[in-house]
Amino acid sequence: MENERKKVMLSGIKPSGDLTLGSYLGPLHHWPEMIEEYDCYYFMADLHAITVRQNPADLRRRTLEQLAQYIACGLDPEKCTLFIQSHVHQHAELGWVLNCYAMFGELSRMTQFKDKSAKNADNINGGLFTYPSLMAADILLYQPDFVPVGEDQKQHVELARNIVQRFNGVYGEVFRMPEPYIPKVGARIMSLTNPAAKMSKSDNGDTGRVTLMDDPSVIMKQFKRAITDSDTERCVRYDKENKPGVANLMTIYSSATGKSFDEIEKEFDGQGYGKFKPAVGEAVVEMLRPIQEEAKRIMADKAYLEGVYRAGAEKAEYIASKTLRKVYKKVGFLPR
Ligand code: TYM
Repeated sequence: MENERKKVMLSGIKPSGDLTLGSYLGPLHHWPEMIEEYDCYYFMADLHAITVRQNPADLRRRTLEQLAQYIACGLDPEKCTLFIQSHVHQHAELGWVLNCYAMFGELSRMTQFKDKSAKNADNINGGLFTYPSLMAADILLYQPDFVPVGEDQKQHVELARNIVQRFNGVYGEVFRMPEPYIPKVGARIMSLTNPAAKMSKSDNGDTGRVTLMDDPSVIMKQFKRAITDSDTERCVRYDKENKPGVANLMTIYSSATGKSFDEIEKEFDGQGYGKFKPAVGEAVVEMLRPIQEEAKRIMADKAYLEGVYRAGAEKAEYIASKTLRKVYKKVGFLPR
């Protein structure tokens, strides 16, 4: 039976801000190519979003927009399961159980916890700290083989793997060991104004961000004022160490056009940055144009979106409840 099982993929994005070029070129861009081959689960991680204060109306709006954008990016709801995390209560429940199998020391070492605590010094809440056990629950409920994420989430997937080892070590083979699946190009898209920081959807006032739904004129403006590098050679060459700004723009251009770094270097040979920056902007505008049109069309049909997330929650819950039942039995909870 085991060899008849389709391999499973799962991933999620927090609706804590509008999806950016980072969210898109990191994981999302690669998700649609997986839906033919794998049994895929993609969700809106709204439970995770509230670890940082959210305006409730914005959170609701962004959750629905994110769903419309997933579909517009090519995630056909007939071919994969799209759902909203809070609609499947097993996430919170398994999250609690796994909290009891994640160690304080481990959680304290998480880079994202340290970063977010520094940025939200007035709200270092317990949820921010135990975030990785909830993320482990998201993953392990569906017994996935692969978890496609950007580089910044790798540490959390590694923690989920530690939890699997610890839990299975006590109770037998309850969870499948998941592998992170990180794209070769685009694993970390940096801010256009600060190439040392990742492009983030939730940093207020980050001017180095381009969102999926930005107007072409805004996108062009952002790229024209993107930071390149202060080196004297002023040529388009991939050197992540010494020319991080140019390397970031080359990564974006390569992802948007499919051209290799070699081809890009040749294309802009001897032309300086003045031609290069608007060319990257135009490539991004063209890449996003069909997605934006489709997302607007889908967003106008609320009944359709409701149908998608209801059906998705049902499918997800069916699988999640099977795993949770097994876990409850293993740890010794008396059935009702
Ligand atoms: P989140 O919402 O911060 O980011 C969503 C996904 O986008 C990737 N990403 C990037 N990739 C490249 N360049 C960037 N600038 C960039 N910014 C973000 C992230 O690596 C991530 O893959 N905890 C997760 C959401 C989550 C999840 C899960 C993911 C919750 N449960 C279970 C996988 C499996 C998060 O905060 O992602």
